[in-house]
Amino acid sequence: MKLLVKNIGCLVGAYDEVPPLKKGNDMGNVSMIPNAWLAIEDGRFLDFGRMEEWPGISDWRDLEVLDAEGGWVLPTFCDSHTHLVFAASRAQEFSDRIRGMSYEEIAARGGGILNSAAKMAEASEEQLFQEAMKRLDELVALGTGAVEIKSGYGLTLETELKMLRVIRRLKESHRVSIKATFLGAHAYPVQYKDNKNGYVDLICQKMIPTVAKEGLADYIDVFCEANYFGLEETERILGAGLAHGLISKVHVNQFNSIGGIALSARMKSLTVDHLEVMGEEDYTILRTSEVIPVALPGCSLFIKIPYTPGRRIIDEGNALALASDFNPGSSPSGNMQLVMSLACIHMGLTPEEAFNAATINGAYAMGMGEELGSITPGKKANFILSRHIKELAELPYYFGRNNVDAVYLGGVRK
Ligand code: NIG
Ligand code: FE
Repeated sequence: MKLLVKNIGCLVGAYDEVPPLKKGNDMGNVSMIPNAWLAIEDGRFLDFGRMEEWPGISDWRDLEVLDAEGGWVLPTFCDSHTHLVFAASRAQEFSDRIRGMSYEEIAARGGGILNSAAKMAEASEEQLFQEAMKRLDELVALGTGAVEIKSGYGLTLETELKMLRVIRRLKESHRVSIKATFLGAHAYPVQYKDNKNGYVDLICQKMIPTVAKEGLADYIDVFCEANYFGLEETERILGAGLAHGLISKVHVNQFNSIGGIALSARMKSLTVDHLEVMGEEDYTILRTSEVIPVALPGCSLFIKIPYTPGRRIIDEGNALALASDFNPGSSPSGNMQLVMSLACIHMGLTPEEAFNAATINGAYAMGMGEELGSITPGKKANFILSRHIKELAELPYYFGRNNVDAVYLGGVRK
């Protein structure tokens, strides 16, 4: 089966070879081919070029032709950090915050992650699956073609496994590409309030081995933060993960800089996520290690915390990826177009940098750089057909509008 897209106003992010992770100045470079065509075969990108140099069609068998009529074509967004399997909204906490409570105060009274965990324990696998499928459809309509999804609202072996099984079913059922991350260390469950080591033991001795044995996770994560999992606990958990073949993607520096970035770099983590609060030593680690920083500006918007200093991170020569952090507590939106707008407006990224951070770098931040994130022959044909725009900056500029006309996953219209 072949698909030919012709009369593309501008083909964005197309490269003959798989582009490397974009860092520093290179984050501002985006390949743009005006008046282009794009060919897809068996769900993968085959070739592309300018309409003036179009070779024409020699074989019409099994060929579908799509006239983009000047619409733009871009790779789909790669959202490398979400918690999109959850059982209920936390709109009540939203109202409480409007009346003056902070996110941390709500957590301290037993709300927050523990609130989601209580709802999760009661929910059936089927309910969780159906609701997450609907959320995925909504994200795809907004241009997302790949998502990482974390567990972490279970906090018992049984319920963590339930969440991960739901994610496995989503992988098997949805055309969007999915990676699963085990986040048993998201908060201490109530029954371990006075026995924190006991919970870390449970994670290391029981949860990680079971999750690994059943092949339920691609990555492991820890909420490394004051009053959650400190450096010692995080190191034990990441070490147990590594011993079972699980590379980490770690929540660090959301509210405090406690050394989580240095620890993650030492433990060979793939990414460090959040980074709203940064110390000088944190910048030094980023400059001197391979770990990919991931910013989550939807969370900063929603719970009114500082934005990740993305401008400085890029200016110091680093890579940066953008993700939605879609979750019911700190970022109940998975809209990557809005994430790009926030990154430009509040973090000082250029539209080109925000685009790369949300596509190719997002793909690398979930270990999919060879497969997704750019329009490159051989890669999975996940692409967006956008509204008529005149320049890339119009994407983040028209914030809150859906600039996506249609999304193709594996060459098939969703
Ligand atoms: O990435 N910070 C930890 N985890 C999530 C929030 C989870 C929640 O509030 O339910 C985050 O922001
Ligand atoms: Fe998160």
